[in-house]
Order: sequence, then C-alpha cells, then structure tokens
Amino acid sequence: MVMKMANSALKTDLGGIELASPIVLAAGTCGYVDELSVALDLSRIGAVTTKSITPEARSGNAPMRVLDVKAGMINAVGLANMGVEAFVREKTAVIEQVPTVVIGSIAGFSIDDYVGVASRFAKIDSIPIIEMNVSCPNCNDGRLATANPSVLAEHVRAVREVLVHQKLFVKLPPSTDGLLPLAAAAIESGADGLTMVNTLEVLSIDVQTRRSVLGRSRKGMSGPAIHPLAVRLVSDVHRAVAADAGIPIIGLGGVLDWRDAAEMILAGASAVGVGTGLFVDPSSPKRITKGLTKWVKSQGCASIRELVGAHTTGE
Ligand SMILES: Cc1cc2nc3c(=O)[nH]c(=O)nc-3n(C[C@H](O)[C@H](O)[C@H](O)COP(=O)(O)O)c2cc1C
Repeated sequence: MVMKMANSALKTDLGGIELASPIVLAAGTCGYVDELSVALDLSRIGAVTTKSITPEARSGNAPMRVLDVKAGMINAVGLANMGVEAFVREKTAVIEQVPTVVIGSIAGFSIDDYVGVASRFAKIDSIPIIEMNVSCPNCNDGRLATANPSVLAEHVRAVREVLVHQKLFVKLPPSTDGLLPLAAAAIESGADGLTMVNTLEVLSIDVQTRRSVLGRSRKGMSGPAIHPLAVRLVSDVHRAVAADAGIPIIGLGGVLDWRDAAEMILAGASAVGVGTGLFVDPSSPKRITKGLTKWVKSQGCASIRELVGAHTTGE
C-alpha cells in the first residue's frame, strides 16, 4: 500500500490507529469502500467508513428514500446493503488496496446479528476499526440496542469479545437526554471510541396526501440543521466521560466546510466525519483539509491534536 506524504500538522489518531488527516467519510454516504476515489485522493483522507453491513442482504425501505430539505437532507434508506457474506467476498480485496484507513460499520437487530458481522470483519486484517451502528432511525428496531445503557453494554461486550486486533467504536444517536449514560455504558463495556452523531429522527408530512413524505414515518435528518446540536453533544460527552478515559470521538453532523470541522475539533472530536457534505460536493473534504491546515497554523499550533477539546467554556 503506497501512502503519499500527508500534511503532518493534520495527523491524528483514533485509539492508537494513525490517520493522515482528521477527515473521515461517514458510513452510508460514500458507497461500500472506495467509490469516492473518483472525486478524491483517498490517501489524503483520514479514513473511509463502509456502508453499515448486516448479516443478510437488505434492499432497504421502498423509494422515495432521500429528501432534500431547507437545512440538510432527510433519508429513510433503511440499511440497504449486500449482506456480510457478499461484502467479505467482493470487498476484501478492495479494502486491502484502498490507500487509507478503513472503518468497518456493522449493524443489526439483535446481539447475534452484531456478533455475526463482527466475527467476519474480525478476520479482515486491513480493517483496524469496527464501528457499531446502534443508532439507525430508519428501520424498525434500528435503535433497540440504545434502548437503555444496560442493553447497550450487553451489545458492546458481546462484540468486544469476538474482536482480536480491532478497535471498537460505538456510533451514538443525537439524543438530547440520556446520551451521557449511553456513552458511559459504551466506554465501560469495552468501546475504544465513540462516533457521534447519527441522524436525528424526524417527520416530514406531504400536505396534500397528509402522509409521510418518504416511504416510512421514521426518518433521519442530517446536514447543517443538526450541526450545532452535534457540536454540543460531542462537547458534553468529551467533557463528562470521554476525555478522562482517553476515549477518542469521531464527531459528525452537518460538517460542510473547514469551520464546521474546526468546531468539532474544539468541542472534543479527534476526527471529523463528513456525510451530507459529500452529497453537496463529493470533493468537499479537499477544501476542508486545506482550510483546517491554515486554521491550525493560524492558531499557532504545530498539530491539530493540540486543539482537540480546546474550546473555552467562559460565557
Ligand atoms: C443517505 C444516508 C445514508 C446513511 N447511512 C448510514 C449507514 O448505513 N450507517 C450509519 O452508521 N450511518 C448512516 N448515515 C448517517 C451518517 O453516517 C451520519 O452519521 C449522519 O448523516 C450525520 O452526518 P452528516 O450531517 O454529515 O450527514 C447515513 C446518512 C445519510 C444521509
């Protein structure tokens, strides 16, 4: 694997896994693995996250599944994916070649589902980080595992047990209450990091038909509308439970430009995910990376790591 020299000021790490840049392509927004290499030099991206993979293939929800709204997008994709057996068969060689870190996203509807996919991913050496998507609002039961902290802890412990070399990140929902106990439970039961946030559960109504606009009523909002909420939640979790435990956070939610990414870093994120931003402009990570480089310098820092969680709390 040939890695180009990256800007050393932007190097960061997620629980010991080095990233060339803090920018991470978010699960479900960049194809299975390397599809965005048509728009981006992936060696300059910190990591790509796979689509969330379930034990069986899923066609997802009926169309329409994506809606462009004023301050972002609403999706009801519903974890459409080829299933773990086909993924391992067709994508392992791609994962081995891709010139960046690959985060393997796993999803399911029971502990056995998560353990089943995790144990297949555990055998792929070139996936150093597993991300447990326990926060999909677009499926019935997609958030069962985050029903309460003890249920989440059970899921995390079970997955932790089948992983050998990989770091385990848990992807949390943007809950405005009850998030700290969930984050604490994930950490206490073996998570090496947290990814936050997933989409916000919303409703959008067609005023003529009086029905939900997309095929199902539970849908996920992403993009600029959720950005300030995501920043607040990353900051709360970083300060309350993650920083002292040395737990890194991948912060995401409405990151469209370098300022959004810098805010996430100051709130406490070690890396920053871009999802909806890729639909607006698939090459946006290039601009974000350039902007972050200048920002780190303008802050008088040699490394972006010095700025993680560095926002001042004065009013
Ligand atoms: C079309 C679409 C599909 C998504 N699919 C997944 C998925 O399969 N797994 C997952 O963990 N998150 C999924 N997400 C959530 C994103 O990874 C991200 O957490 C969320 O969109 C917030 O970030 P953003 O505002 O930058 O998009 C999806 C988001 C969108 C817009």
